[in-house]
Amino acid sequence: MEIIRTVKRLEEICRAAGESGKSIGLVPTMGALHAGHKSLVDRARKENDILVVSVFVNPTQFNNPDDLRTYPRTEEADSAMLENCGADYVFMPTAEEIYPEPDTRVFDLGPVAEVMEGAMRPGHFNGVAQIVSKLFAWVRPTRAYFGEKDFQQIAVIRKMAALEGFDFDIVACPIVREADGLALSSRNVRLTAEGRAIAPQIHSLLEKSRQLKEQGLKPAEVARATAEAIDSVAGLTTEYYQIVDALTMQPVDDWSDAGAEGTVGCVTVYCDNVRLIDNIRY
Ligand code: PAJ
Repeated sequence: MEIIRTVKRLEEICRAAGESGKSIGLVPTMGALHAGHKSLVDRARKENDILVVSVFVNPTQFNNPDDLRTYPRTEEADSAMLENCGADYVFMPTAEEIYPEPDTRVFDLGPVAEVMEGAMRPGHFNGVAQIVSKLFAWVRPTRAYFGEKDFQQIAVIRKMAALEGFDFDIVACPIVREADGLALSSRNVRLTAEGRAIAPQIHSLLEKSRQLKEQGLKPAEVARATAEAIDSVAGLTTEYYQIVDALTMQPVDDWSDAGAEGTVGCVTVYCDNVRLIDNIRY
């Protein structure tokens, strides 16, 4: 496994792989790798000749300086894990390497980026589009892998790819959870023991909410009742809960209004001041 620090070397390797007809799998990450990331890496390993994983805490997608400052960084453990997974190349650049000049591009991401995370974290998705578009342009992967834990992020990346004319295969991978249901996240290490003990209720309450649909409640009613149930757990506070079309990310009035992919309920919950996100399909 080679650790790449420069864009020049990354491009060189990926160009050579492309020219020799090899397929390239790309897994973009911000490091502090866990089993959720590993599921993407393992799948990409199986499906491609060459596996490139990027590890970069992208400053332009953080709208909260404290979150950027305290974001966990575990470079050595990450390299060891990726070596074990059989990665060929790990791209671990500095911020100066990625942004020698400020990236002033503003992507016209449209409605998918305006709701939920887009509404709560201004500039976040534009920053994601900036870094992922750079990685796509340098690597030109055959397939790029993203996790459904960040469900809206996948919709935003598909939109960015369409805008930029990238026709790579964007592969959505299922959420990996702890045995008690908590979605794995690099931010979970910031939870206190008390927070860690109550956080799994997010997932169990989302699962329970499927029964409300079966009882005939409309999407907005299910969303309201579920947010209330989460808020009634001492220590959990929902920022939003919305049930949206799984492709357009727009709220649906009726279950039957959703397109081919159905509906997904997306939630953000504060627990111990840690911002946790999760989602569930109905
Ligand atoms: P990061 O949070 O490190 O996540 C990297 C990838 O791992 C994302 O596609 C994310 O959805 C996926 N992932 C995280 N936790 C997961 C889980 N429990 N189950 C399945 N997949 C999971 O998302 C980012 O980084 C950044 O925004 C990035 C796309 C790298 C751009 O900077």
